[in-house]
Amino acid sequence: MCGIVGYCGVKNTSEILLGGLRRLEYRGYDSSGIAVSGENSIIVVRRVGKLNNLTEAVAESSLATDNKASFGIGHTRWATHGEVSEENSHPHTDCTGKIAVVHNGIIENFSGLKDRLIANGHKFKSQTDSEVIAHLLEEAWNGDLNAAIHAVLPMLRGTYGIIAMHADAPGVLVGARCGSPLVLGIGDNEMFLASDPGALTRHAKKVVYLDDGEIVSITADGFNITDGKNRDIKKTADNIEFRNDDFEKGDFPHFMLKEIFEQPESIKRGTTGRLDLAASTGKLGGLNMTEDELRAIRRVVIVGAGTSYFAGCIGANFLESMAGVPARAELASEICYKNIIVEPDSMYFVVSQSGETADTLIALRELKRKGARVLGICNAVGSTIARETDGGVYIHSGPEIAVASTKAFTSQITAFAIFAAIMARLREMTSVQGDAFIKAFSAIPALIKETLELDSTIAKLAEKYCNYPNFIFLGRGICLPVAREGALKLKEISYIHAEGIGAGELKHGTISLISEAMPSMFLVPNDGLREKNISSMKEVKARKGRVIAICTAGDTEARDIADDVIEVPETLPILAPFLMIIPLQLFAYHSALKLGRDVDQPRNLAKSVTVE
Ligand code: F6R
Repeated sequence: MCGIVGYCGVKNTSEILLGGLRRLEYRGYDSSGIAVSGENSIIVVRRVGKLNNLTEAVAESSLATDNKASFGIGHTRWATHGEVSEENSHPHTDCTGKIAVVHNGIIENFSGLKDRLIANGHKFKSQTDSEVIAHLLEEAWNGDLNAAIHAVLPMLRGTYGIIAMHADAPGVLVGARCGSPLVLGIGDNEMFLASDPGALTRHAKKVVYLDDGEIVSITADGFNITDGKNRDIKKTADNIEFRNDDFEKGDFPHFMLKEIFEQPESIKRGTTGRLDLAASTGKLGGLNMTEDELRAIRRVVIVGAGTSYFAGCIGANFLESMAGVPARAELASEICYKNIIVEPDSMYFVVSQSGETADTLIALRELKRKGARVLGICNAVGSTIARETDGGVYIHSGPEIAVASTKAFTSQITAFAIFAAIMARLREMTSVQGDAFIKAFSAIPALIKETLELDSTIAKLAEKYCNYPNFIFLGRGICLPVAREGALKLKEISYIHAEGIGAGELKHGTISLISEAMPSMFLVPNDGLREKNISSMKEVKARKGRVIAICTAGDTEARDIADDVIEVPETLPILAPFLMIIPLQLFAYHSALKLGRDVDQPRNLAKSVTVE
């Protein structure tokens, strides 16, 4: 959470910083600010609210007419310590106003440090943990910013990605990473620092991913990376993989809608080169495992948070149903504090779109500490989780900008479907069954495209139902996690309360909520559980509940019972999640839109949850 950016070069520094923050705004959007070099001084502009407020403030400031800055830093905040206010916005400055700092993470021992600094006469202007870094740098300053940061870092406990500048160290920025991401961008006579490479794609040619414990110092024409003991570290630079239109809405009004409509393409990208039609199986080179090693796996445990956890639940179902391998998904925020029993013949996956989620990262480290081999299913290339896992799969869905995850979800289950096919074909699945699966799976992008044509029908449905304050989403088997994901989507962007439950659980308590005021969204694919779902729908109707059914095209029985029906194309029952989720994503989107919510940046949230 929080995005940080830094720039050294000859271009318009405030514009570059604002452009970088625009790309990082998904990481937090409570407030934002920049600090740029002035004449022997630092000019700070900060504003509460969305980045547009800061952009307007910069346009009205002296920077609009007289901007000779050649280095600067910026920050977009997701509040942890201290309310959302201009004083608590970054960059934070020291008592002299010559040092400015942006920080992403949490300084756990800030209170003791602050007491000591106050006793030494420092005046604090904010309630944040981050401000201590500026004052500590002030105490350590002896004319060399790099030396000062080296002196300060050992005093900090917690997590940080930091960038600091000093008015008397012209053209120099220092950055440090411990638990919060930081990348270096290399351009032509310009250098950048940022929380993620997406902020750099417009200008930088190459990126260097910093690791925990590394400290970097940059000028416009060079950089130097050291460890905490000031020993030089040589690192290789990688190409930047994103295209600039990944960060534009194009003809869509919101990133979320664009990303929902991208799914036929993003799924295809995730399968390119990964389906072996001749052997009726999948191919995932990144697993770094031989067929013998895969055959020896007796159990699979999948760890993730939020939407990634639900994708993991579906992945576990694929593995059990197709390959007969016992599998389960665990919530990252829970497993990291349990006594995890790591077994030698088990395989562990961590799933994360951003590759930076703190809970998932902690779980990964805990699993590795106990000797597990952990593979990653990630979207963000070069992210911390992708780099700390022992191998894995990039889902290649492209940058996901809307806070609500959509295309990453279907790409994550794509990766699991391929993995399950591999595991199944190394066990009991015949080539005929494998062939049928691969053919049906290859047809999914076209079927999603067909399902997306329901957009305007679903918009009308959302208009009809968006004023209900509560919803129940119901599914069974492989569609239970889809129901839970549909409920999560609706609540996070429309703020309508929604609960996703197993349809069989209705009679164990939730049915007491059923009345005319409570709509139920049933997932009714054409599978072995269809009749049970139909019975549950009847139970709801018998109690005057309103039923919306997402069913397979031609299901007249579901149509007769439900108040409203959305029909999706037929596919193999095991692949139903790919199609069932599309109407739920669109329903959440249109409900939020009708209610006037901020669809791409819902309140209180951030895309990448890098705090526990
Ligand atoms: C919901 C959503 C979150 C994330 C969760 C994990 O739409 O986006 O629930 O899925 O915070 O994030 P990643 O996948 O980045 O680890």
